[in-house]
Amino acid sequence: MSGLIKRERWGSKIGVILAVAGSAVGLGNFLRFPVQAAQNGGGAFLIPYFISLVLLGIPLMLTEWTLGRYGGMHGYGTAPSIFAVATRNHFLKYFGVIGVLGPTIIFIWYTYVESWLLGFAIHALFGRLMEAAQDGSTMKAFLEGYQGIVSNSWFGGIGQTYIIFLFTFAINFWVIFHGVKGGIEKFSKIAMPVLFILGLIMMIRVITLGAPNPAHPDWNVSNGFGYLWNPDFSRLKDVKVWMAAAGQVFFTLSTGIGMILTYASYLDREDDVALSSMTSVSINEFVEVILAGSIIIPAAFVFMGPAGLVEIAEGGGFNLGFVTMPQIFTKISAGWLFAFIWFFMLFIAGATSSVSMLQPAVAFVDDEFKLGRKKAVIIIAVFCFIACNGVIIGLSHGVLDELDFWSGTFSLVVLATIEAIIFSWVFGIDRAWKEIHHGADIQLPWSFRIVLKYVTPTFLLILLGVWTYQLAIPTFKMVGVQPENKIWVLGTRLGLVAVIITMIILVYWAWRGRPLPDIDIETDEENML
Ligand code: PFF
Repeated sequence: MSGLIKRERWGSKIGVILAVAGSAVGLGNFLRFPVQAAQNGGGAFLIPYFISLVLLGIPLMLTEWTLGRYGGMHGYGTAPSIFAVATRNHFLKYFGVIGVLGPTIIFIWYTYVESWLLGFAIHALFGRLMEAAQDGSTMKAFLEGYQGIVSNSWFGGIGQTYIIFLFTFAINFWVIFHGVKGGIEKFSKIAMPVLFILGLIMMIRVITLGAPNPAHPDWNVSNGFGYLWNPDFSRLKDVKVWMAAAGQVFFTLSTGIGMILTYASYLDREDDVALSSMTSVSINEFVEVILAGSIIIPAAFVFMGPAGLVEIAEGGGFNLGFVTMPQIFTKISAGWLFAFIWFFMLFIAGATSSVSMLQPAVAFVDDEFKLGRKKAVIIIAVFCFIACNGVIIGLSHGVLDELDFWSGTFSLVVLATIEAIIFSWVFGIDRAWKEIHHGADIQLPWSFRIVLKYVTPTFLLILLGVWTYQLAIPTFKMVGVQPENKIWVLGTRLGLVAVIITMIILVYWAWRGRPLPDIDIETDEENML
């Protein structure tokens, strides 16, 4: 029976939960979330954020955990085949290509940013970062020099940046090369506790800052929290705030992009998915709202004041994380140490996320073409290496932002919509509900069936509709793209189209003459009882 298909397995329940939480907790938590909240209504942002968490994030987590385990039972770990097997419809597998490409494309830009964090951590230890951070403009010059955008007295070229990138790239592939249990799980079990401890240290340091600027006693920590969390309810009328909240929920949970499908495909048939998925969501939310919410914005408020912070936050999370935070560290004792902790913590958070982005592509090559893990890892490494170089060369021309948009914002909502419809309507809500509870350690409230069947798909279709109505045409026309960058953006888009077409051909090729697994819905359901 197909249930006996031999696949790699996670070693322990805590291991898989930490691996999923490791994927979820990343730069999205520490850099993206606080800025999104500050820019979109402060405390009021939490309303669409938590609504999206309950109505989109949690249902999609459950969907991916459940469909992933189901796919694994039939020997498949990526969206194309899981869609085919779960729906018994050959056509739907082509939609699944997003679930393999999406995470891979995120990896291609995310890993480069992750390598900067390691570079900055090293420069914090050796003192150059603190030297540069004495002043905002020199710090900016340091960052731009590091990124290779300009050549200046800090960095004469991109050589050092490139070496650190190669090292970061190699670590990611080294982890993946050692497999799900021997690589990802082991790594997450060490990295996640370290990340928590470093995060707690940073949080405690920030909340004990008091009011360090005697000239501005009101620039204190509690007003910093107030700045972040005081609600501006008038912003809730703005549809952009809702889209930002939904986008943040997907990105931070790493869900709606096919990644969790792959991780869950290495579960055992009898393993719980209901409680484990909720546990990983809770860990991510604790880190995002409590830890990350207590670091970057309150710290910047205390040293820069409200007006300064508004200006900086407009520049986005990168600016706050890479330019403002180092300046703040120069103003506290042992600042170099806290700078190191900050950047190293972000590096670890990034690394546990980026390894997860590789697994779908590796699983795809391995499951579909039976090449074995090691060969699959080498093939994906070559592809990613070439593409990463494109990001490095095209950084100042907007290539990274373009990839970020398509992979980190757009694909998530599209694939999430497809998954939500497939799970509740094609796989069918009755089977879905049974499958969620197979081997489960908790029983979900019945009302959640209604959410899964009606609310999540409708909410997603509305989001997609609004996005298409408001943004599709300006996006296609490249409104806002600098004229000299248009050719780069166009090149990036054509590259994306080329990989999508290649993937469609690969999926077709893999399934040529291959029958759907020999199960009919009845025996399948018997297995689930
Ligand atoms: N959740 C990660 C973060 O918050 O940084 C980003 C991410 C990881 C997105 C893995 C998608 C993914 F498949």
